[in-house]
Amino acid sequence: MITIPQQLTPSTPEIDLEHAQRMSALGELAAGLAHEIQQRLTIIANYANGGVRRLENGRLSTEQLRELLHEISSTALQANEIASRARNYSKKEALELTALNLNDVVTDSLNYVEEQLDNHQVDLELELHPQLSEVFADRTQISQVVVNMLLNAVEATAGIESDRKLSIQTTHDDNFVNVVIEDSGCGIPADIQLLIFEPFFTTKGSGLGIGLGLCRSIVERHQGQISLDSEEGKGTRIGFSLPLLVCSDSPHG
Ligand SMILES: Nc1ncnc2c1ncn2[C@@H]1O[C@H](COP(=O)(O)OP(=O)(O)OP(=O)(O)O)[C@@H](O)[C@H]1O
Ligand SMILES: [Mg+2]
Repeated sequence: MITIPQQLTPSTPEIDLEHAQRMSALGELAAGLAHEIQQRLTIIANYANGGVRRLENGRLSTEQLRELLHEISSTALQANEIASRARNYSKKEALELTALNLNDVVTDSLNYVEEQLDNHQVDLELELHPQLSEVFADRTQISQVVVNMLLNAVEATAGIESDRKLSIQTTHDDNFVNVVIEDSGCGIPADIQLLIFEPFFTTKGSGLGIGLGLCRSIVERHQGQISLDSEEGKGTRIGFSLPLLVCSDSPHG
């Protein structure tokens, strides 16, 4: 198991300081973001210029024009997706904290990946602690973490020959509630295990490399931690822990 270094120094309760730290992390992101978007804009310009030339030479059928416009539109959508996902890093949006049972978040998140689980014929096993302690967290953001991790797990099983298995486990101890997602996929080579949390690091042809960076940022904002244990060719256990909710109105004070 490796310990994931924190992206930011531990944040103070003041949201302004936290925001300042986030903005400085965003500075590092900006170069990568500009590069990714610029790449897509160049592709769009090339397609459009090529289309104009072929139109002028009378060498563009309706079918070819349709394909060209389709490529332009899907590349523009990719750029849009990159920008909107990266914006989450910089949002000053206050967390909408409520008492949450992470079992419910896991169950809700599964609805978003049902199709992918079916398509990849992945066997799902749930081990949800029946009396899980609650956490104080932003439901939408934590569900984003679970969905990103689940999608990665399913994608990791895509190329393997043996049984595709995915299990989700929730547990708690005295201080933390833990969610662990384990897959029997391709695993992560030791030399890239720390890199996978860096923005825009991806090994997938169509990946953006934003998912885990976002997970780390959200979990840290909740004073939680991410854990990773993976072996190339065997599979991956990835998860997060959030401080459990302590009730201040207990009869014993
Ligand atoms: N469960 C996993 N098994 C194997 N590799 C993984 C797993 N989770 C993450 N990775 C590796 O970490 C990389 C970064 O993951 P991340 O989710 O940040 O980006 P991505 O999945 O490539 O793209 P996207 O932004 O669309 O999620 C992946 O490209 C993959 O190489
Ligand atoms: Mg991903």
